[in-house]
Amino acid sequence: MNNPINRDKALQPLSREHHQSLLLCWKIRTGFRKNVEVSLIKSYVDWFYKNHVQSHFELEEKHVFSILGKEHELVKRALAEHRKLRRLFKEENEVVKNLGLIEEKLEAHIRFEERILFNEIQKMATRKELKEMELLHMGSDSLKKPQEWKNEFWK
Ligand SMILES: [Fe+2]
Ligand SMILES: [Fe+2]
Repeated sequence: MNNPINRDKALQPLSREHHQSLLLCWKIRTGFRKNVEVSLIKSYVDWFYKNHVQSHFELEEKHVFSILGKEHELVKRALAEHRKLRRLFKEENEVVKNLGLIEEKLEAHIRFEERILFNEIQKMATRKELKEMELLHMGSDSLKKPQEWKNEFWK
């Protein structure tokens, strides 16, 4: 993201998804600024969660964080943030407040992964582990397909 050149090939698909998630945060902010009906923002956020975020989190937990192990402090922090974010995405009450929290916490989580956690993972992973990650073709299929979302409230 900031330094795409320094990002190992194995992690580039996930970094591209991070970019999409940062866009989601921007779309939430823009929706608020333009006084878009909250239910419209929420249904897009729900769709994005089901089609991108869920699989992204699962991939990270299964194939990326595992390189450092569950007991590693940075992994503990990432897992706690995933837990918190999953709760926020599933929350159906106090929608405005929770969308605001998603916007804030998701962006902070991505900055943490890109600036700290992914660098550490790249540093610690063996060549073999990086190759294995690369061969997984990580990244959700939905990002490879054109996104179908008719109501682009952010435009
Ligand atoms: Fe994550
Ligand atoms: Fe991530």
